[in-house]
Amino acid sequence: MTASGIIDSETQIDEPVGNDGNRGQIVIVFNPKGGVGKTTIAVNMAAMLQVRKGQRVLLVDCDTVTGHVASSLGMENVRTVADAWTEDLSTGMAESFAEIAAPHLNGVSVLVMAESPLHTEILEPKRVAEAITTACRVYDWVIVDMHPDYGPLNQVIFERADKIIVPVTPDVPAIRAAVQLREVAVELDIRERLAMVVNRANSGVSVADMERTVGMPALAEVRSAGMLFVRAANEGRSAVERFPKEKVIEDIENLCDRMMATRDSGATKSGQGFMGIFSGGRNTNPSMRAS
Ligand SMILES: Nc1ncnc2c1ncn2[C@@H]1O[C@H](COP(=O)(O)OP(=O)(O)OP(=O)(O)O)[C@@H](O)[C@H]1O
Ligand SMILES: [Mg+2]
Repeated sequence: MTASGIIDSETQIDEPVGNDGNRGQIVIVFNPKGGVGKTTIAVNMAAMLQVRKGQRVLLVDCDTVTGHVASSLGMENVRTVADAWTEDLSTGMAESFAEIAAPHLNGVSVLVMAESPLHTEILEPKRVAEAITTACRVYDWVIVDMHPDYGPLNQVIFERADKIIVPVTPDVPAIRAAVQLREVAVELDIRERLAMVVNRANSGVSVADMERTVGMPALAEVRSAGMLFVRAANEGRSAVERFPKEKVIEDIENLCDRMMATRDSGATKSGQGFMGIFSGGRNTNPSMRAS
């Protein structure tokens, strides 16, 4: 399997991932506030890991209400998990997520849970969580874009996550939502897996202040990129492929490098969490200051 190739199902079954055969990582992108950049960051992280880092990536659109992963990648009418599992009832088959997913031209496997928000009963949360975990046998990264809610589907996926990336824009509603998430995370026992990504970071608000206010370490910053993300999505591509030389893509690369570093250091849900890795989160990006 090459970085940009399409995975065939036999390869997936026979070949475990990772340098040392370890399973892939489940990274969810979540903030209970809408419009903070969850989908943008999920799509571009997935593309960066696949295209530039040679990783095998499954990008899951778990937003069954307003999901727009596939449309932002120019993939219309994809077969969804709800479609596949409904068909499987009559065929007696049980397709894995790797088999249901559709390949994007950039090599990322894209999986959409459901097209219609009204017909999701078949997406039994535990079964979805199991299927995501199984996908880790054949992908290096399973990146999950979430709908902003704390419903049963999201809760079981939180449980399985190795990392929870929390995009936060420097505005009061987004910061409040992240503080709420930090509090909820204590109850769900996932606090150590949370890491903030300050999105639209070049707005004059200090990242250190955001870390203090939100109470989460900042894993990385992503600057405001004007219309670049929208323009790329309108062309059905990620900004990583469409605008590879832009500064904002350096930010995405930086974010991915740090995620890969946490994987390699073992700082996941069973490890020390993000706090200890980036010197208390003081990982501000000097180039951001200049822009
Ligand atoms: N760093 C950025 N620079 C410029 N535009 C951005 C940036 N991040 C996000 N956007 C834009 O902001 C809008 C909202 O982003 P996005 O759809 O990723 O948010 P979301 O958190 O997934 O929203 P929802 O909760 O509705 O799913 C999009 O038009 C996206 O292109
Ligand atoms: Mg979204």
